[in-house]
Amino acid sequence: EPEQDEFQIGFSQAMTTDNWRKEMNRAMQVETSMHPGFYLEIKDAQNDVSRQIKQIEELISNEIDVLIVSPIQSVPITPVIEKAMNAGIPTIVIDRKIEGSNYTAYVGANNVEIGKNAANYIVSNSKPNQKLELIEITGLQTSSPAFERSQGFNEVISNQGNMDIVASIAGDWEKTSVGDNLKSILDSVGIIDYIFAHNDRMAMSAWEVARSKNLEDSIQIIGVDGLFGPSGGIQLVKEDVLAATVLYPTGGAEAIKLAVKLLEGDQIDKNNILSTVVIDKVNVEIMQNQFNKMNQQQNDIEQQQSIINEQVATYNSQSNLLKIMVGL
Ligand code: FRU
Repeated sequence: EPEQDEFQIGFSQAMTTDNWRKEMNRAMQVETSMHPGFYLEIKDAQNDVSRQIKQIEELISNEIDVLIVSPIQSVPITPVIEKAMNAGIPTIVIDRKIEGSNYTAYVGANNVEIGKNAANYIVSNSKPNQKLELIEITGLQTSSPAFERSQGFNEVISNQGNMDIVASIAGDWEKTSVGDNLKSILDSVGIIDYIFAHNDRMAMSAWEVARSKNLEDSIQIIGVDGLFGPSGGIQLVKEDVLAATVLYPTGGAEAIKLAVKLLEGDQIDKNNILSTVVIDKVNVEIMQNQFNKMNQQQNDIEQQQSIINEQVATYNSQSNLLKIMVGL
């Protein structure tokens, strides 16, 4: 239980079923543990908009000091964030956006740029005037990254005279939204050169469909997220499942840093844009080494933290014992 003099950070997470969001939570927990006096509570909305609204209302009535929200969808989550702001609770929006500008700060990568990066990867890996047929698989249309990734991708591709997006699948970020749709599209169109899926999970599903039709060597697949670890995008690029993935950093640590700064009375920027990069065969080894190192450091920090916690617990029980012995 938090003490009176601790700062309460409440985080409303859209869902925690996938590794990208697990990693976001973990990064937040690690970062919070490095700031004594700060306490983080994570509420998991399980991809249910009305649950997310209810949980944010609970955080507001618990009088938390800072609210962090990763909205499932933009429009329906906007009013409850306004409610938090009106209650005097500064609110940091992370990853997916809300409508308007009534929030304290935003943190996340530029999703229009991510879409453009994916398209530019195709442009720079094709010969001039080479005719290319593409398929786009979008994330949930009502969440801002899907809209923005699509916007950036289409902007670049439409300027290429030799490229055509022959089909677009309205996915929902999860694998299950891809399979049957893509199967029937591949049955009805000609040769497809590239598939751009708005995240690596859907890209993986696209590859499974392609393989079931013996097309996995002729269709190049690009995803987004570039997670480190088993079945993450980096591994998929290494295994030649994906031609490339565009890194989408979770921003978990950065969000907590912003919350801490705010509560310590520092000024923070309204827009905190994280950088992104295309990961392909050329740089995948370097990226993996970087993540290995970072991961090792995080594990060290977590281990040290648990040793400290043990020592604090030992100290507390010994000093309680001492108080009893001296009759306090
Ligand atoms: C995780 C996720 C990511 C995607 C992000 C967009 O839940 O689906 O794969 O990049 O959300 O908000």
